[in-house]
Amino acid sequence: MIKYDLSTDVKITLNDGNVMPTLGLGTVHEGDAPDVKNQVVAAVRAGYRHIDTAWYYGSEKYVGEALKQIQEEGIAKREDLFITTKVWPSFHHHPERSIDDSLKELGIDYIDMVLQHWPICLSGDANGLPPTPFDNKGKLIYDDDPVNGTGYIKFYNRLEDYKFNTEKVKSIGVSNYSISRLELLLKNRKRYIPVVNQIEYHPQLPQKDLVNFCENNGIIVEAYSPLGGTGAPVLRAPMINELAAKYQVSPNEIAIAYHILEGRSVLIRSSNLGRIKTNIKLPPLTLEELASLYDVGVKRPTRYTNDPWGYGLGFKWWEGDTLSK
Ligand SMILES: NC(=O)c1ccc[n+]([C@@H]2O[C@H](COP(=O)([O-])OP(=O)(O)OC[C@H]3O[C@@H](n4cnc5c(N)ncnc54)[C@H](OP(=O)(O)O)[C@@H]3O)[C@@H](O)[C@H]2O)c1
Repeated sequence: MIKYDLSTDVKITLNDGNVMPTLGLGTVHEGDAPDVKNQVVAAVRAGYRHIDTAWYYGSEKYVGEALKQIQEEGIAKREDLFITTKVWPSFHHHPERSIDDSLKELGIDYIDMVLQHWPICLSGDANGLPPTPFDNKGKLIYDDDPVNGTGYIKFYNRLEDYKFNTEKVKSIGVSNYSISRLELLLKNRKRYIPVVNQIEYHPQLPQKDLVNFCENNGIIVEAYSPLGGTGAPVLRAPMINELAAKYQVSPNEIAIAYHILEGRSVLIRSSNLGRIKTNIKLPPLTLEELASLYDVGVKRPTRYTNDPWGYGLGFKWWEGDTLSK
């Protein structure tokens, strides 16, 4: 049997000096939200130390229950875990409220990393409701122009103030930022360069320009939907299966290694507890193999998250986006 390094052991230093385990467990739920509790416990037992959640997922309460069990049973200490949550755009005018709600649901007194979930401002009440406001013509209701508005920068500035003025947030980052949005943010930030940009990224979605931009600015790319989400369509790529057979690991482990070996963070999810445990071997893919995985997407780019709140952000291959130039 071949002995490999473990993805769960790899850590990365962020631009603010904090250290983040690169492999994270995602907590979007397809079935019942309470199932997330057992998924988080199983993952931490298997060695994961990074959990990715969000106010929008409705799973924070169950992540909180898992954290309680993990600490009570001595599986891991709070200080050895890295917990990420995100602020949804309907909270853009008072992200502090969203963070305080998340802390309460998670049952912890600080969050390792808070992300601005999307660089837009949606219309929401004091409780961030409704999270996705649509008018009677089916159009999203924004508080700002989704293409040219700059309210998303003020939203980020409030996160900066919250980190600066409290002990409740260790690092702040962003998600779903295109190059044009990042450029404007970097010019208009108050203090902090975002530590990560969490984006959809996998071998079917080539985005070297965005990845290079982030890396050149000290921003770690954090890949979400590394398998393409529900049904794991990315695993159908023959190259992934050929490499899995060559290294005698699961296709999931190839999809994870693709990011970790190139210095990115990666978030994976499964409702199958057995699968969570068998996602952690890190095969030593060569530079040529990593390049071949990238080429899969150059030939046939596919994005699996095409939510309408992503329209106008300037991403390529965003199905239905008629707002971006
Ligand atoms: N910032 C954002 O806007 C954003 C957007 C999307 C996601 N995220 C984060 O990133 C995390 C991961 O992304 P994701 O949820 O899209 O997950 P993903 O890991 O790309 O895909 C998960 C799906 O793949 C299936 N799967 C896993 N291994 C499989 C296998 N070997 N064969 C067949 N199916 C398999 C899972 O089914 P089973 O449950 O049956 O294993 C599940 O349906 C999320 O949970 C969330 O935390 C962030």
